[in-house]
Amino acid sequence: MGSKIKDLEKYFREESEKEKEYAKALEGTAKKSNNLMLKVLMKAVSTDSMKHSSLYEAMAEILDNPQLISEKESEDVIKEIEEHIEEEREAVEELKRLLEDERIKKVPAVKFLVEMLLRDELYHHALLKRLHDAVIKPSVFNEEQYWEMVWKDSMWHGAPGG
Ligand SMILES: [Fe+2]
Ligand SMILES: [Fe+2]
Repeated sequence: MGSKIKDLEKYFREESEKEKEYAKALEGTAKKSNNLMLKVLMKAVSTDSMKHSSLYEAMAEILDNPQLISEKESEDVIKEIEEHIEEEREAVEELKRLLEDERIKKVPAVKFLVEMLLRDELYHHALLKRLHDAVIKPSVFNEEQYWEMVWKDSMWHGAPGG
């Protein structure tokens, strides 16, 4: 059993490296590209790949030391999360306004990018909100229920509710 977990941990570390390499390759292609849309979107996928790399890294760390995810959070961090939630909410509202702007409706590339931003900010808002709820609630949930709650609610109920 222990060695099987080690195998999975190793796999996650390898995937983390792969994503990092892939991010570099994408960035290289983005730099070579002459087209601004291609450039910016390739760069965005590259940044996402860096993010994926750290997510894989985190999974390896958790398997190595499960304690890491049960650490209690400080008042400071909780307060800052609340401020970030508000910033994400403001971003969502601003982007929704932009989508209604006639000048933006006329330029499909800009509209596409605004929609892309809106999708991200909705997800950020919902994820931070769920994380906050989960973190301030006393541990009435077991670990599985906790992450189900964070994941499902941010995935399927992405609308900002304040
Ligand atoms: Fe990826
Ligand atoms: Fe955001």
